[in-house]
Amino acid sequence: QAIYLKGLLGERARVPVRPEGLEEAAQRRMSPEAFAYVAGGAGVEWTMEANREAFRRLRLFPKMLRGAKPPSLRVDLWERAWAAPLFLAPIGVLELAHPLAELAAARAAARRGLPFMVSNQASYPLERVVEAAKAVNPEAVVFFQLYHSTDPKVVKSFLRRAEEAGCAGVVLTLDTVQLGWRPRDLDLGHLPFLKGQGLAIYLTDPAFLEALDEPLEGPAFRPRPTPALLKNLLALRRAGRRFGLSLSQMQKAVRRFVATYSYPELSWDDVARLREATSLPLLLKGILRPEDAARGVALGVDGIYVSNHGGRQVDGSLAALEALPQVVQAVEGKVPVLLDSGVRTGADVAKALALGAKAVGLGRPYVYGLALAGEEGVGAVLDHLLAELELTLALSGVGSLKEVGPGLLKP
Ligand code: FNR
Repeated sequence: QAIYLKGLLGERARVPVRPEGLEEAAQRRMSPEAFAYVAGGAGVEWTMEANREAFRRLRLFPKMLRGAKPPSLRVDLWERAWAAPLFLAPIGVLELAHPLAELAAARAAARRGLPFMVSNQASYPLERVVEAAKAVNPEAVVFFQLYHSTDPKVVKSFLRRAEEAGCAGVVLTLDTVQLGWRPRDLDLGHLPFLKGQGLAIYLTDPAFLEALDEPLEGPAFRPRPTPALLKNLLALRRAGRRFGLSLSQMQKAVRRFVATYSYPELSWDDVARLREATSLPLLLKGILRPEDAARGVALGVDGIYVSNHGGRQVDGSLAALEALPQVVQAVEGKVPVLLDSGVRTGADVAKALALGAKAVGLGRPYVYGLALAGEEGVGAVLDHLLAELELTLALSGVGSLKEVGPGLLKP
């Protein structure tokens, strides 16, 4: 309400409130390469559009005269308190948006009692991000998102680090065992990792650094020294300085990363091994099919995270929201189900909750807030979403989150 009143009294919001306005403002601020990387999707971006379209098609069905106060938004998940059923989805290389990257985003989330998920490709080491979040809120909830590389020693080491840092859980991303076909990046010839960006957790990992001198399998990648490549080398040296590594170590690190990062063979056996390897809650991210969800639950995972990676992986695949009801049905309430992909408004959050998600993840919009105004920008994006969610539920006659179910939707 405070936000709404300020707006009505003529105070302009810190970042544009309309989702389209937010994206346009960020585009004006960011480099063409950074914006393309964040805004883009796979293929001709039909799945990215489908994510929005699915929310547009679904209609809320407000009840009147219920005599209810606006509901509390608080939820408890995996034995932690969340101020609302909303979290920041894992997004890599946030330095493309702002030099304080994950530190700024994690602080904005922590101040509001909302969870932050640190990407495996973050620009700051995991420990620094958790520390930043806990410094503003000792109860801050931070998850670690894992990409399972081909090197089991590195995977084990990352898990240990997440446990020791005090993470609330591990989110294993299944939909990106290889990078999707991303035409906007291809057209600009841009991949942040080749500049050493998004490798912070690797460059600070003893197991990864120890492996740098081991011989690599597979075809050698020897690009010709084009101007673009020389520019990458300069960026690589800069990134190396941040981590106390020489240029030649950085070159080895990038080569090692490229060789070990893709793991198309990832299978249920790996999930079973991971389940054994950590005592932290384990969530599977990127699930669309009900039978995959059921199999994960049978293997003992603690959460199912429905997502199509914001339409960045398989173009032509269905919207995450379309996949949600069947997944919720297959999970039979045994573990919480989360959702992201296409969430832009408080009304979107209400719809996903009504279809059975226990909490909803926000992706690109918070990166735009970060690009425009750092921590404050991320905070403003979150405040707008929370305010609209609270208003939407109150105006729909909802007195408590427990009442949010299929009954809130037009059949
Ligand atoms: C992502 N996403 C992602 N997911 C993940 O598990 N690990 C990662 O490192 C990344 N990196 C990443 C970078 C960028 C620039 C984007 C836009 C997305 C996917 C992310 O967690 C989430 O699934 C989507 O962003 C949700 O869709 P919306 O909200 O962006 O539509």
